[in-house]
Amino acid sequence: TLALCCLLFIQVRSVLFAAPTCSYQNVLDHLHLTKANETFTMSRPVKDHTNKTVLYLEMIVYAILDVKETDQTFIAYVWIYMEWGNDYILWNKDDFCGISEVIVPTEVLWKPDITIEEMIEKDKAPQSPFLKIHSNGTIEFRNDQIVISACRMHVYKFPFDIQKCNITFKSYLYAEHELQIEIEKNSSVISMWSREIMATEFEWVFVDMTVTNSTVNHYGYNQTIVIYTIEMKRKSVLHVASFVLPILFFLCLDFFSLLLPHGGGEKIGFKTTVLLAVTVLQLILIEILPFTSSKIPLIVVYILGIFGLMLLSLLETIVVNYLIEMDSASQDDAQSVNE
Ligand SMILES: *[C@@H]1O[C@H](CO)[C@@H](O)[C@H](O)[C@H]1NC(C)=O
Ligand SMILES: *[C@@H]1O[C@H](CO)[C@@H](O)[C@H](O)[C@H]1NC(C)=O
Ligand SMILES: *[C@@H]1O[C@H](CO)[C@@H](O)[C@H](O)[C@H]1NC(C)=O
Ligand SMILES: *[C@@H]1O[C@H](CO)[C@@H](O)[C@H](O)[C@H]1NC(C)=O
Ligand SMILES: *[C@@H]1O[C@H](CO)[C@@H](O)[C@H](O)[C@H]1NC(C)=O
Ligand SMILES: *[C@@H]1O[C@H](CO)[C@@H](O)[C@H](O)[C@H]1NC(C)=O
Ligand SMILES: *[C@@H]1O[C@H](CO)[C@@H](O)[C@H](O)[C@H]1NC(C)=O
Repeated sequence: TLALCCLLFIQVRSVLFAAPTCSYQNVLDHLHLTKANETFTMSRPVKDHTNKTVLYLEMIVYAILDVKETDQTFIAYVWIYMEWGNDYILWNKDDFCGISEVIVPTEVLWKPDITIEEMIEKDKAPQSPFLKIHSNGTIEFRNDQIVISACRMHVYKFPFDIQKCNITFKSYLYAEHELQIEIEKNSSVISMWSREIMATEFEWVFVDMTVTNSTVNHYGYNQTIVIYTIEMKRKSVLHVASFVLPILFFLCLDFFSLLLPHGGGEKIGFKTTVLLAVTVLQLILIEILPFTSSKIPLIVVYILGIFGLMLLSLLETIVVNYLIEMDSASQDDAQSVNE
């Protein structure tokens, strides 16, 4: 009996104190979450269809890659974070050795059909392949994306301009009562984060970022949209050094050519060369500026003004030269008559 007692004790002990082993698969089995289970993929994961899915969205700008004034495009690298709820996912983490989150492939679950309205070219980089599911039914998705977006630029004050570009998130199909997009972090927080992590800014200085939500009705039903507005300022030093100052220098050269001797084509040749140099700069500028602006940018007015001044001085030189020649010719005539 003692041996039997001992055996029983050992068995009870092993049942009571055996370290339970849990794997992520146990959680997935409990949820019946498989690639083939259509409950998770076919439709919005709510048990009552009148309940809306709330999507928390957050975007941070990691890099400003390019701003093309001629094409009116803005290219940025952004970090996107989304979080929403799924009614079919729920487990008690104490039943599974404290597993409170599992990372699963994106294709096994329903995902909100969020798109960026201004995007004019699909991001070629593959989407992030995984989602994180939490024991309380919250689902997290992170994606890093290159956003090539249309942005209307105002180049009137070039190169001292400030540009604002919008990145608008919306659902393709879901209406407001089905999918509501909420802002996760307010403007000051995302601006601060973006400023901290910004890796490269191209020729721009990131100024600020604001986020607002609004309701639009494009297709006969209301949809929520979230608009991120990125404000940036051009680094103008290089443009000043390569356009504004050289043109001023050419104007000075033109002035000082007054000191060249009159007569002969020399002065005219010099002035024409300087004028051509300004024209070359003008051509370079035209490649940068878009033709879409309705107002003539100030810098174009500036170049035109200087070009005009130099043209006038060239004309004046030509006229003076002509007069001098006439004068000397008439003097020659007078001399020959006297002789
Ligand atoms: C799919 O998941 C649901 C909810 O967890 C479950 O009720 C159903 O039995 C699963 N179906 C299959 C085929 O596993
Ligand atoms: C629907 O939403 C309400 C309020 O948000 C909540 O009390 C209720 O439990 C939800 N229904 C289901 C089936 O989840
Ligand atoms: C679910 O859990 C996550 C992570 O622990 C937490 O951030 C989130 O607020 C929870 N959601 C709800 C609805 O309790
Ligand atoms: C950006 O969105 C705001 C609304 O938040 C709008 O007033 C503004 O015109 C938009 N800017 C562009 C360039 O579309
Ligand atoms: C933004 O959120 C932070 C913390 O979440 C808060 O301290 C701050 O007051 C908020 N700012 C505005 C303008 O709401
Ligand atoms: C914007 O979000 C706030 C808080 O999340 C909400 O109270 C407000 O109704 C939303 N505005 C629109 C136009 O959806
Ligand atoms: C859309 O929103 C407007 C104002 O926010 C509201 O008056 C209108 O009833 C809504 N339409 C639908 C179909 O929900």
